[in-house]
Amino acid sequence: MNYPRTLQWLGDAAGGKLVIIDQTRLPGELAYLELDRPEQLIDAIQRLAVRGAPAIGVAGAYGCVLALRAGQGEAGLDGLAQARPTAVNLRWAVERVRKEAGGDPVRALAAAQRIHAEDVSACQAIGRHGAKLIQPGMGVHTHCNAGALATSGMGTALAPMYVAHGNGVKFRVFADETRPLLQGARLTAWELDQAGIDVTVIGDDMAAVVLREKKTQLVITGADRIARNGDAANKVGTYALALAARVHGAPFYIAAPRSTFDAAARSGADIPIEERKESELRQWQGALLTPLGAKVFNPAFDVTPAELIAGYITEDGILSAAELAGWLG
Ligand code: MRU
Repeated sequence: MNYPRTLQWLGDAAGGKLVIIDQTRLPGELAYLELDRPEQLIDAIQRLAVRGAPAIGVAGAYGCVLALRAGQGEAGLDGLAQARPTAVNLRWAVERVRKEAGGDPVRALAAAQRIHAEDVSACQAIGRHGAKLIQPGMGVHTHCNAGALATSGMGTALAPMYVAHGNGVKFRVFADETRPLLQGARLTAWELDQAGIDVTVIGDDMAAVVLREKKTQLVITGADRIARNGDAANKVGTYALALAARVHGAPFYIAAPRSTFDAAARSGADIPIEERKESELRQWQGALLTPLGAKVFNPAFDVTPAELIAGYITEDGILSAAELAGWLG
């Protein structure tokens, strides 16, 4: 299957480095960043050079190798875990490496490689389970980017599309552009186009019309953190899409691996929502889009309540909200 390799560790624990696609440069340029200091990785995560919940989890796991070998100890691991607040995968991965490595960079690398391999196979399983939802001739709607670029494998929401395409099923994808940072227009459209999958970019404000006109009959998005009751935080705009899907009769699914579920969060109210800087909304390539006197509110994520979600496409199959508590243990 033809999808981008978002991140890769090259070399051993002592001298190795993390190589990532610089997603801020797509779709214009496929450029890579080589990171050998933890501060470089934290900066890359905060600027969204690497982004998407599972991808920042795997990157954070490799970041533990960088922090431990730089002698930063526990404080270095804390800094990585806190680089972005909403996607629970980052904290989950750093805490797992902390436990499995006992401060040793060599053991940290082995732990990060296990997390990486598990992410690749979770994406494949999500793809296999979710592909059953995609019927020939269908329009599939997605928001933001939950593809290969958002994971270390073939993605979560886009994995069923890669598998269905590989099986010869003909379908169309509608990708919301995803204001303000355009992950749908820049990243989802880029990777689906590279794979030869029919993709149409629409403004976020067109989503309800596209659903009403039955251009799309199925919605699949990813998530950054899913609470025990099934409430799911994902890129801002997902909630509005789920509402429109409900009104127009399209089932709305979330695709996510176990590492995106936060068993300690009872509901969406327990999920921290990242607020990003004003300039992302206020400016476009240096030009002002708003008067300076106007305030700007720029949360990066919103929470879709479980009652709007038809199911959760996980590595263990498609689960209902009622099944989650038992699955999470
Ligand atoms: O701010 P981003 O680009 O990191 O937001 C990403 C998303 O909202 C994705 O949908 C989510 O992380 C799932 S990625 C498989």
